[in-house]
Amino acid sequence: MAYYRKWVYSFGLFLLILSLSLSIAFSAKALQYNRKLAKRPNTPAASYHFVLIPEEMDNDYWRLVEKGARAAEKKLPVSIEYNGPEQADIETHLKKIDMAIASKVDGIITQGLNESQFTPLINKAIAKGIPVITIDTDAPNSQRIAYIGTDNYLSGYLAGQALIKGTHGQAVVGIITGRFDAEHQKLRVQGFRDAVKQAPGIRIAAVEESNITRIEAAEKASKILHEHPDVTAFYGTSALDAIGIAQVVEEIDDKSFYIIGFDTLPETLDLLKRGKIQATVVQTPYEMGYKSVKLMLDIIKGKRVSTVNHTETKVIGKEDLPLQEATVEWSVPAP
Ligand code: BGC
Repeated sequence: MAYYRKWVYSFGLFLLILSLSLSIAFSAKALQYNRKLAKRPNTPAASYHFVLIPEEMDNDYWRLVEKGARAAEKKLPVSIEYNGPEQADIETHLKKIDMAIASKVDGIITQGLNESQFTPLINKAIAKGIPVITIDTDAPNSQRIAYIGTDNYLSGYLAGQALIKGTHGQAVVGIITGRFDAEHQKLRVQGFRDAVKQAPGIRIAAVEESNITRIEAAEKASKILHEHPDVTAFYGTSALDAIGIAQVVEEIDDKSFYIIGFDTLPETLDLLKRGKIQATVVQTPYEMGYKSVKLMLDIIKGKRVSTVNHTETKVIGKEDLPLQEATVEWSVPAP
């Protein structure tokens, strides 16, 4: 009996030692794994996945926004997915937002291009606990947490004032706008209209849509010139419009035009330098991209942020060239 008890005790002891050593081995392995994770930057535990959805991926203006967002990605514990329609297309844009909601990203940065289609989707993301920041174009009646970008009405108003000054208050104007149904484009046209109301010598002859492409901007400029031969000035409200307008106007030798456009893409600055366009409205897309990421992280960390964050806008002419680096590509401060 004593022999049998001894045998049971020894076997129990053996089992105890075995399980202890196994658990020590497993914890050492787990510790090693955790250390490895901690050393890796942007591990899932440390990083947030934000999606930046532009209206057109391969557009020089949006590439600058992306560049700013990527600069923030290098400094902050975030990963940025830049994913929008290849070419401007509202349906695809909306689909991309919906896909981002379905894949439960940590934050969505996008435009509020129009109230009826974008606001319900933005609200859907918020209802699912995904913060949304509008960039470049606000959706003020949605539940978006914050907006970062130009004051679009003001930028249009400044363009109108510049045109009055540049034409000494006498002009028949053709407007080329990116999209009739995009809120920021409407505001840029409205601001302009309100400003030129103060100059009785200025009349708006026509407003046409470019679909944010330079080709259509050129086509619509030709159409305006054909239908309204008395036009003496043009206003382009999205980044490639003035470039398209200048291309058409360049072929007309016997008349000079006043052209004011939007943005400071290299081609626009070159046209300004060569006197092919007279003025352009400055926006800071790089800054928008950088700050939108920083803002999103602040929101996730529960910090209080301002709802409306306007970036600088102003009108420049040839006399302001060369532009300071900070205006063309906003310099990056430490976060
Ligand atoms: C606008 C953008 C637009 C781009 C098109 C910019 O002026 O702010 O919303 O996508 O032009 O080229």
